[in-house]
Amino acid sequence: MSIQSVVEWLSEHEKACVERLVDWLGIPSISTDPAYEAEVQRAAEWAADHLRGSGLEVEIVPTGDPAGSGHPIVLAHTPGDAEYAGPHVLFYGHYDVQPVDPVDLWESPPFEPVIKSDPERIVARGACDDKGQVSMFLEALRAWKEVTGKAANGVRLTVMLEGEEESGSVNLERFVEQHAETLKNCDVCVISDTGMLARGKPAITYGVRGLAYTEVTLHGPNQDLHSGMWGGKVPNPINELVKVLAKLWDDDRRVTIPHFYDSVRPIEQSEREQLADLGVDEVAALRGVGLGPEASVGEKNYSFLEREWARPTAEINGIVGGYTGKGAKTVIPSHASAKVSFRLVADQDPREITELFFAWLNAHRPPGCRWELVDHGGGHPATVATDSEPLAVARRAIEKACGVGPAMIKSGGSIPVAGLLKQKLGLETIFMGYGLEDDRVHSPNEKFELDCWRMGARSHAWLLEELTH
Ligand code: BES
Ligand code: MN
Ligand code: MN
Repeated sequence: MSIQSVVEWLSEHEKACVERLVDWLGIPSISTDPAYEAEVQRAAEWAADHLRGSGLEVEIVPTGDPAGSGHPIVLAHTPGDAEYAGPHVLFYGHYDVQPVDPVDLWESPPFEPVIKSDPERIVARGACDDKGQVSMFLEALRAWKEVTGKAANGVRLTVMLEGEEESGSVNLERFVEQHAETLKNCDVCVISDTGMLARGKPAITYGVRGLAYTEVTLHGPNQDLHSGMWGGKVPNPINELVKVLAKLWDDDRRVTIPHFYDSVRPIEQSEREQLADLGVDEVAALRGVGLGPEASVGEKNYSFLEREWARPTAEINGIVGGYTGKGAKTVIPSHASAKVSFRLVADQDPREITELFFAWLNAHRPPGCRWELVDHGGGHPATVATDSEPLAVARRAIEKACGVGPAMIKSGGSIPVAGLLKQKLGLETIFMGYGLEDDRVHSPNEKFELDCWRMGARSHAWLLEELTH
């Protein structure tokens, strides 16, 4: 049976697979920083070559308006097989990575991947998010091609690798619109960019949160002022900004913006029970980030997991103003600003939430001050049907590959493409990801454990098998 040979190929050639991943991770494809534009392009070409080697037809599609101002999307298709009657699968991943700072906290340079042991892991920026996870799929494809001579076991497959996921997917909506005819041929999307329940416990993620990201600046006097001469008689934009932002939450830690919760789907009792049954160790999770059990704070009447998976939040992600250099300087700054974002759940709409927030800020404008408000975009939340036929196929594949069926989990993170595909094309997504909570994604010393890679590669190989049944 071919699938057995494919799985054997993956373990026999694991060293080469990991070396290829190391090679890809060596390319610093930081999408948010224009200085890395050529590297982002190189990472796209690397993936395109890999896909071509597995028998797919590949193009590197420029994005952006004006054309080419964005980072490209790698788009690939299997040649197609007349005998295959299963669903046409769209595999999505991203080849861009987050910036590396603070760089001094890395134990080894972020783009010089190293393999460490106990547990066996690969340390580099992008190791888990998302090159390492995409590589599980790429190598499953390669294995099928090497063993059978056929691309993707004959499955009708479209592959789409984005280069701007970590910088807000700003050109993705236009891309999806422009390629709607092609993408409409797909029946379901598969994404490996989420996590497992725990080590050795694979999972399917049936919901990710959305995001609305903003930057707000409060302007006061037209110049910085001596705080002795002016303090106490004119508005200090930092004081005023933090006073306003502090009103974002009430005593129960609910967001106070009117209508913020209007379209939030309440969590059902059955789902609450399922989440509780997952047995997630809250105290251990807190300990892992240096916190005691008393730090479990959040919206009243919701559990640790419910707060992450099923409830929206407001967060200040950065705040600056005034003097931030060494020593002391007595100053009233002319302005102060903050990055404020909202994690959203179904059926909240990021644009609507941003509008509500901006209206709320205008209603709370401190006297004598002026707001400058910037919308940095975001993405829709995505909740996935848990009873679809393709999902059943994925569950079977994971069970056969890992010897244990997937837990059904959600994630607090956001993957903008899923909401877009659902909204524009009615496409459902299956998130089958193999990250661990302590993989340090977006942080120094990001890693991906080889056991996770193995489970993921085998699961994708099995997925290509099960799809043909
Ligand atoms: N892979 C993550 C999202 C994620 C993280 C899903 C953890 C599940 C578990 C993705 O690359 C990411 O970082 N997304 C951003 C989206 C934003 C830039 C629009 C996020 O969630 O902040
Ligand atoms: Mn990711
Ligand atoms: Mn990310």
